[in-house]
Amino acid sequence: MKEILVVYYTQSGQLFDILENILSNINSEGVNVSYHKVEPEEPYPFPWKNKRFYDAFPESFLQIPTKIHPPKEDILSKKYDLVLLGYQVWFLTPSPPINSFLKSDFAKQLLKDTPVITVIACRNMWIQAQEKTKKLLNANEAKLVGHIALVDRHINHISVITISHWMFTGRKDRKWGIFPKPGVSSQDITEATKFGAPIKSALLANDYSQLQKNLLEIDALNINPFLVLVDKRANVLFSKWANLIIKKGKPGNPKRLKWIGLFKYYLLFAIWLIAPIVFIVFLLTYLPTTKKRNREKKYYSSVSSK
Ligand SMILES: Cc1cc2nc3c(=O)[nH]c(=O)nc-3n(C[C@H](O)[C@H](O)[C@H](O)COP(=O)(O)O)c2cc1C
Repeated sequence: MKEILVVYYTQSGQLFDILENILSNINSEGVNVSYHKVEPEEPYPFPWKNKRFYDAFPESFLQIPTKIHPPKEDILSKKYDLVLLGYQVWFLTPSPPINSFLKSDFAKQLLKDTPVITVIACRNMWIQAQEKTKKLLNANEAKLVGHIALVDRHINHISVITISHWMFTGRKDRKWGIFPKPGVSSQDITEATKFGAPIKSALLANDYSQLQKNLLEIDALNINPFLVLVDKRANVLFSKWANLIIKKGKPGNPKRLKWIGLFKYYLLFAIWLIAPIVFIVFLLTYLPTTKKRNREKKYYSSVSSK
């Protein structure tokens, strides 16, 4: 009997639907699937209030763990052949529940020497978050063997508008009836079933050497070089903001909230004014940076760590 553990967190259920679809082609006789949903002791709200959303930034970005409920004893008592780790990105970083799980002693126990497949469902900016996740997996001595990243395929600025609508209303529908639906498309969610076959073959053969190559052949992720650039730059700037704001007090502290307000306006300014300038620079340097772009594409599509 092969044992799979699915560790995940989700607010809307989108990520759970994707994981379920992937597993629908794996779950059969001879394979047993257990689930662990990471639950913070103090749940994050959904839908979000505007202030609370931005106030989650410093701790999320600085990867400060929050208290989480321990996995049940029957989850901890088994040794797993494969772990599927489903996470979303918050502020270019694995979301706090998943970050907290990966920094816990339970993660050490569950992931040590165990093959792990990461499954991301986010707006579109996951590259640096995955780099942070790789570090946490390495610290737990886990073996990253596969990576799937499903995103909102609409252009960056449209997805910013539609995800805000989703996060602040809780409704994954068309803003004003005119914008596209936010998040990962229903088609991509449904078609996630296709990832089951290569994962199952690797699991049964206990050979994951070709898994990422096979997953890439069926569109498991797409590297957008412009977003790679924005993600990298934004991480540098986010680091300055987060380290400044964290000194202003705990979440909800009025003094801190003033800074959070400034950060929110900075973020809007960065998305609507700086990002288009970065795009022009990206186009102007497109030819001379071809080699670097190809190198990055290969690395970020892979399961290797720097
Ligand atoms: C506080 C917060 C910050 C987010 N930051 C990002 C981000 O930096 N990059 C990104 O691609 N998506 C971001 N998202 C979108 C999430 O990755 C995810 O798609 C969305 O929250 C739905 O996930 P869930 O319902 O499965 O929890 C953010 C969402 C939240 C709530």
